[in-house]
Amino acid sequence: MLYVEILKVVFLLLEGTDRTSCVAVSKQWRDVTQDDYLWKCLCANRWPFICKRPNPPTVTYYKLYQTFYKHQRQQTLLPPRLSFDNLEFFIDIWTEDKLIFSEVVSDPVLQTGIKCPPPRICDRLGFHLEGLDYKMIVLVEPRFKAPLGETISVSVLVGRKDNNKVACIINKSVFDYINWTTYRAMKFDYLGFSPAHPFIPGIRAWISLLFVDDKNDSVIDAFGIEIDFCNAAKSRDEVLWLLDILDWK
Ligand SMILES: *[C@@H]1O[C@H](CO)[C@@H](O)[C@H](O)[C@H]1NC(C)=O
Ligand SMILES: *[C@@H]1O[C@H](CO)[C@@H](O)[C@H](O)[C@H]1NC(C)=O
Ligand SMILES: *[C@@H]1O[C@H](CO)[C@@H](O)[C@H](O)[C@H]1NC(C)=O
Repeated sequence: MLYVEILKVVFLLLEGTDRTSCVAVSKQWRDVTQDDYLWKCLCANRWPFICKRPNPPTVTYYKLYQTFYKHQRQQTLLPPRLSFDNLEFFIDIWTEDKLIFSEVVSDPVLQTGIKCPPPRICDRLGFHLEGLDYKMIVLVEPRFKAPLGETISVSVLVGRKDNNKVACIINKSVFDYINWTTYRAMKFDYLGFSPAHPFIPGIRAWISLLFVDDKNDSVIDAFGIEIDFCNAAKSRDEVLWLLDILDWK
């Protein structure tokens, strides 16, 4: 057998990354690995039928292998098209029918989060707020108290300053669940996406009313709200991409 033929046989016996490293060894090795027949043999393991066709379905079998064979799980997200500088959030909170908080909140507040949380904040809520997942947190000032039985509802719209469009995040919803581990009253709403993205399954926006531990279980002493998208968007860029595909009107 010629040296080159031996190289080809060895090459076929290698595994994924070793194979890719071969290309960098020398010019001769690179020439050998450019033989598309080699890549066809590799592709035939996974797609025998495709490899029976006279021509590769992509430009070369090498391309087919590089693109689909090595399953790329970690796709890097493109930089988001939206930026927080361009966004503002319209937040309203009612107890029963009384409006008690109504503000436009923009970037700095959302990202600074709560630097100095109020005293009496429970440890578990403290840990939660320091967690790594990206959350949007707004201080509710002045703080307010509401009896536990009272209905507390909330609306959140997001606006774009560049084109004056608005999208709905929370559509006047009543906090209907309290997590007593972290002292949060919670509610979720399904996001409405642009008709350009018809196949996106239900993604929830969560809103939490954060309150302190007053040792009085019949009263909610609220100091902030948190908006997050749980597993759907965990980083700042993911949140921006998610907001980008909302149904902007
Ligand atoms: C908000 O909720 C009301 C009912 O309470 C519904 O009629 C309306 O379509 C909802 N709007 C959006 C944007 O989901
Ligand atoms: C309360 O919230 C914490 C932190 O997010 C979570 O780990 C826990 O499962 C929640 N508990 C309940 C009962 O929902
Ligand atoms: C809890 O708060 C309510 C309303 O402010 C008050 O009437 C009640 O006396 C308080 N209970 C205790 C145990 O402090």
